Amino acid sequence: MTTPASTQIIEIDLDALADVTGRIAVLIGKDGKLDSGARRVNKLTKGALARMIEAGTLEDMKSGDVKTLAWPTGLKAEAVDILCVERGAKEVEARKAGASLGKLLDKKGMTVLAAQIRRPVDLMMGIALRAYSFTARKTGDQKAVGEVTLMVSKPDEIEVEAEAARAVVEGVFFTRDLVSEPANHLTTTEFAKRIKDMEKLGLKITVLEEDKLESLGMGCLLCVGLGSASPTKVAVMEWMGGAKGDAPLALVGKGVVFDTGGISLKPAAGMEDMTMDMGGAGVVAGVMRTLALRKAKGNVVGLVGLVENMPSERATRPGDVVTSMKGDTVEVINTDAEGRLVLADVMWYAQENYKPRAMIDLATLTGAIIVGLGHENAGVFSNDDTLTRDFLKAAEAEGEGAWRMPMGQAYDDELKSQIADMKNVGGRPGGSITAAQFLKRFVQEDMPWMHLDIAGVASVKSDTAYAPKGATGWGVMALNRLVADMLEGD
Ligand code: BES
Ligand code: MN
Ligand code: ZN
Repeated sequence: MTTPASTQIIEIDLDALADVTGRIAVLIGKDGKLDSGARRVNKLTKGALARMIEAGTLEDMKSGDVKTLAWPTGLKAEAVDILCVERGAKEVEARKAGASLGKLLDKKGMTVLAAQIRRPVDLMMGIALRAYSFTARKTGDQKAVGEVTLMVSKPDEIEVEAEAARAVVEGVFFTRDLVSEPANHLTTTEFAKRIKDMEKLGLKITVLEEDKLESLGMGCLLCVGLGSASPTKVAVMEWMGGAKGDAPLALVGKGVVFDTGGISLKPAAGMEDMTMDMGGAGVVAGVMRTLALRKAKGNVVGLVGLVENMPSERATRPGDVVTSMKGDTVEVINTDAEGRLVLADVMWYAQENYKPRAMIDLATLTGAIIVGLGHENAGVFSNDDTLTRDFLKAAEAEGEGAWRMPMGQAYDDELKSQIADMKNVGGRPGGSITAAQFLKRFVQEDMPWMHLDIAGVASVKSDTAYAPKGATGWGVMALNRLVADMLEGD
């Protein structure tokens, strides 16, 4: 797995600054006041910082902007990065400012003079989140990032918070790696193996194989994988850190390791992007990793349907009718609307087996959600206003975009089939909503449920605040916070 930059928090040591190697980061607010660390750097560089401020440089800088002083006189460091950020910056702002530094982190490491800022841990988290690159499939010497040293005034007081932040970053990186992996490497078997490896973190892992899925009657899930040489699997991750007997929160993820569309084959252009179609499962696995790493005091179970959607002589045909674990029959009009088939059975299994207090599913489900919301927000669909409110609040606090979408009977009507209980597609209009309506048919009565369509946010073509272009890990932070708010009190 891509290991996050190692981060250490130490007491500020001004006398050490002259000999620090790598980069030194100095934080300055709009008022241009230098803190003790900045004053020392200024002195050592013979007034370079003061000259920069006097020249009015800060005037056209906004929070998160960085100006770099390269090869400064008087220091061993290769660069001084002057980051514009207010002392009192809130979580997301501090994180995003940190991310600007993370972008500059190289193998020689960075020392951050963070004695004044009120949220040094968020700054640190931003640095670590942004300093990501997926190099597992490249040969040659890959540049690993160096160590990040935060100099603060009272290191001991923030170490607990820092540990939790490190757990989050590791969960996010785990998700990004999974999403970045090509499908010949991340097969269903390999995905299950990586999940199984998390047993050593204290998670209880069960992998259900095809014969078991058949005996459970998961005809919807299984029909998706019929055309593939890779076996369909369901992996279950249990983290029971809460009170014994408390109903868990269930997280369910779509894990289509590659989506060709099946017999309803996708066009060639851009098909390679469908390596990310396991993004929902990737987020579920990442959240479970974070919860285990930080030993969360709540009960959460993660379930992912791992399957590959390929065309072959054994593949499901358009027009085939399959029977779900619930017992309802589905006419598969379009084999490319496979995610909902995967989720239907895994969600049903989650409810039957765990009687969860609430269920959240995540999936790169529809292209239509990208048309609607672009790459800034995931689509949120729910039957429960409280769960939705709590989630939207958590997502906002973490700086992860999410926007609620409508549902309703009229959309559900689009799923009527001539020959089965339902079709797997509605028409083009409101495609993300009819997909959500399909899922809702597999939600049991009174079950608080939320569906997150992450097709637009799981992997993106340009840099985001927290990540370079590619896999984002969207949702790990928001769900981790939701678990903390919902199950762990404070
Ligand atoms: N995996 C796709 C959705 C998707 C599209 C994810 C683009 C990420 C980027 C999904 O399985 C799919 O193919 N959906 C179809 C549904 C349609 C056939 C009703 C779609 O969105 O076109
Ligand atoms: Mn598809
Ligand atoms: Zn898909």
